[in-house]
Amino acid sequence: MTDELIDDFGRRVRYVRISVTDRCDFRCVYCMSEEMTFLPRAQVLTLEELTLVARAFTELGVEKVRLTGGEPLVRRDIDRLVEDIGALPGLKDFAMTTNGASLPKYARRLREGGLERLNISIDSLDPERFRRLTRTGDLQRVIDGIRAAKAAGFERIKLNAVILRGRNDDEVIDLVDFARREGLDISFIEEMPLGEVSDHGREETFCSSDEVQALVETRHTLLPTTESTLGPSRYFRMPDSDTRVGFISPHSHNFCSSCNRVRVTAEGRLLLCLGNEHSVDLRAVVRRHPGDIEALKAAIVAAMPLKPERHHFTTDGDVQVVRFMNMTGG
Ligand code: GTP
Ligand code: 5AD
Ligand code: SF4
Repeated sequence: MTDELIDDFGRRVRYVRISVTDRCDFRCVYCMSEEMTFLPRAQVLTLEELTLVARAFTELGVEKVRLTGGEPLVRRDIDRLVEDIGALPGLKDFAMTTNGASLPKYARRLREGGLERLNISIDSLDPERFRRLTRTGDLQRVIDGIRAAKAAGFERIKLNAVILRGRNDDEVIDLVDFARREGLDISFIEEMPLGEVSDHGREETFCSSDEVQALVETRHTLLPTTESTLGPSRYFRMPDSDTRVGFISPHSHNFCSSCNRVRVTAEGRLLLCLGNEHSVDLRAVVRRHPGDIEALKAAIVAAMPLKPERHHFTTDGDVQVVRFMNMTGG
């Protein structure tokens, strides 16, 4: 069997994003509706199944694994999972995207378990506004989480901020300055239309990366770089800081032609593109053939032709994908 994953457009898949839970202790307004219902536990992959899935991907040449959620740190025994996946041969980049609130508890254990990189979401530096955007989040816990991650030895921590017009676009420079002071990278993300949100009209709050970049440039000089983490961010440097400023622009600078990633949802669906529904049920394969890595690898290889060329997100407020972001972890 081939040991590489290549789709019908010649793109090689080297990066898998594995959602370990659809649950989260926050309810970010662009990510979830207020009254979310979560998957029954039996539908979610077990830790053993998750490790097997990660192993199948690494044996197929995938070098980068990112654990996502919902919020990965609300999954019980997440530190054990990190240790098991961290030990897989062939893994070159092992990362997690988190809301940061549980890092004071977990940062050290995650680092010791082999996790190398953390992306932490933070959309506001004002406690009340942070609470409104996350509905339940406590800003101070996230800041404590960022500091705990630094103390645990994580390097090149990246902050993620989704910028919404009229909600937090006036904080762009404050967020960059915070990243500079703390020695972190930061990416600004254009909101994507996944799931029907009730809190705001997406067509009104959409803020393009070019607008955000122009705001940053009122204070700082941004120099383009070709640096990449194999992710979608276009990075810039500043002459007087190590901080990198990235822009993730699914709407305004489509990056699908260089897509190198697939996702596995918490219920074990292999999703070939964030913006489409093409998927294969890996949970059915692992539960039909428990422990059979070859069956799993065969199912993953067979799924590659389903990877669509691109997403078709628009900014006019229409929801093309009914699934909410917490099902895929972004
Ligand atoms: P790095 O490894 O640091 O480059 O991480 P990353 O930016 O790939 O991952 P992160 O979890 O921080 O994701 C940041 C944002 O990028 C999230 O909103 C994701 O949904 C979005 N994103 C990641 N990959 C894709 C993709 O293939 N398509 C789209 N449309 N968005 C993506
Ligand atoms: N559009 C863009 N980014 C989103 N995120 C969650 N929902 C959306 C959305 N609808 C971001 C989170 C986190 C990352 C995993 O995805 O803020 O940083
Ligand atoms: Fe939770 Fe992340 Fe979604 Fe916010 S964006 S509700 S922190 S999963």
